[in-house]
Amino acid sequence: MGIEWRESLAIGVSEIDNQHKELLSRFDALLKACEGGKGLDELTKLLGFLDDYVVKHFSDEEGIQRLRHYPGYPDHKREHDSFVARLKALKQEIGTEGVALHHVMETNNLLLKWLINHISKVDVELGKFLKQAC
Ligand SMILES: [Fe+2]
Repeated sequence: MGIEWRESLAIGVSEIDNQHKELLSRFDALLKACEGGKGLDELTKLLGFLDDYVVKHFSDEEGIQRLRHYPGYPDHKREHDSFVARLKALKQEIGTEGVALHHVMETNNLLLKWLINHISKVDVELGKFLKQAC
């Protein structure tokens, strides 16, 4: 079972939509790797990728919100910060314990679920605001 970006997740800013596509395709690669028993290798790759990419993606999204005086900005930023904190905690744990299968499960259960929920609700809400405000 894989995941992929779909039109209902569009927020209407192509740069952000493309970043969401990239994020989801990277998580999809992890799901596919799990099916092939290569989850641990792929998790290391994914976490390395997320390090820089998520910071840039969140900061691009937050920049648009500040520019457009989006009223939901403080709550939205809090959600982003919580993802970054989860990611950091996971990486720290892997740093001490070494990468293990439960980290793959945690990534699929926590980070991926968070991401899909965030894009489909919080980001889509932002998209509605941006479209109305044009
Ligand atoms: Fe967001």
